[in-house]
Amino acid sequence: MLKLLNISASYQDIPILENIYLNISSKLFYGIIGPNGAGKTTLLKIMTGIKGPDAGEVLLQGKKINRFAKKEVAKIMAVVPQSSFVPPLFTVEDVVSMGRYPFQQLRFSDSDADRRCVDEAMEKTGINGLRHRRINELSGGQRQEVIIARALAQTPQILMLDEPTANLDIKHQMKILHLTSALVRNEGMAAVMVIHDLNLAARFCDRLILLHDKKILTMGTPETVLTPAHLKTAYGVETSVGENPLTRSLEVTVLDKKGAVHESVKQCVNY
Ligand SMILES: Nc1ncnc2c1ncn2[C@@H]1O[C@H](COP(=O)(O)OP(=O)(O)O)[C@@H](O)[C@H]1O
Ligand SMILES: [Mg+2]
Repeated sequence: MLKLLNISASYQDIPILENIYLNISSKLFYGIIGPNGAGKTTLLKIMTGIKGPDAGEVLLQGKKINRFAKKEVAKIMAVVPQSSFVPPLFTVEDVVSMGRYPFQQLRFSDSDADRRCVDEAMEKTGINGLRHRRINELSGGQRQEVIIARALAQTPQILMLDEPTANLDIKHQMKILHLTSALVRNEGMAAVMVIHDLNLAARFCDRLILLHDKKILTMGTPETVLTPAHLKTAYGVETSVGENPLTRSLEVTVLDKKGAVHESVKQCVNY
């Protein structure tokens, strides 16, 4: 659905990404991981055509992304940015309705179909009850759900989210991850999420893309990507990777302090 072919990107001649090949398919949930400053946000911007690459090609449904009008891209891909400014006095419904702009000839000329998409987006994100509240009266978690609903109102085939769970409590984190996962499973969307929490990434994502030193260090299933060797290279820390007995997904424990391992198991793991 979306292909990156040998992409390189820079800011003011400082190289940020080099030789990136990527293939985003429908019905898969991708997690982009890697240290701060690794280029995760830049990669999302390249994927959505917000930033042009220095070299290489971005193909959306087989066609070069810069050949699409911006509104046409927005009908296929929706973005939940790392931080988004929303005019404080707008209501939740106003903000979610903004997601329909690619489909409208005139601004705010919404049709029945537009209204239906807005209602569905609010339903899916569970914010129906907030419809008439003003954005500045909401908690951080609720605000993020509104921004996600705005993206869903675009009825995208690919949903891109840049650290959507940062600064949220565990309940809201889970809600956003379950919702994204359901959109991928039930509606065949592709989701691409930048996420720092490796355990949540392992639990929810089908594929992980680990960025390090301008390149994709490794990508694949969480099992292939989350190895102590890869994590040592990318983050410079020692880790132990095991399986969580309850979720059956991988669990990463950072061992950079000697105290991280309990006395009773130190002999067993030769610490
Ligand atoms: N608009 C910009 N102008 C100049 N440098 C930038 C800009 N945006 C990001 N950078 C730099 O590019 C690098 C990668 O940034 P970013 O993609 O935001 O990383 P990440 O999202 O992985 O933390 C960082 O060194 C950052 O300082
Ligand atoms: Mg970022």
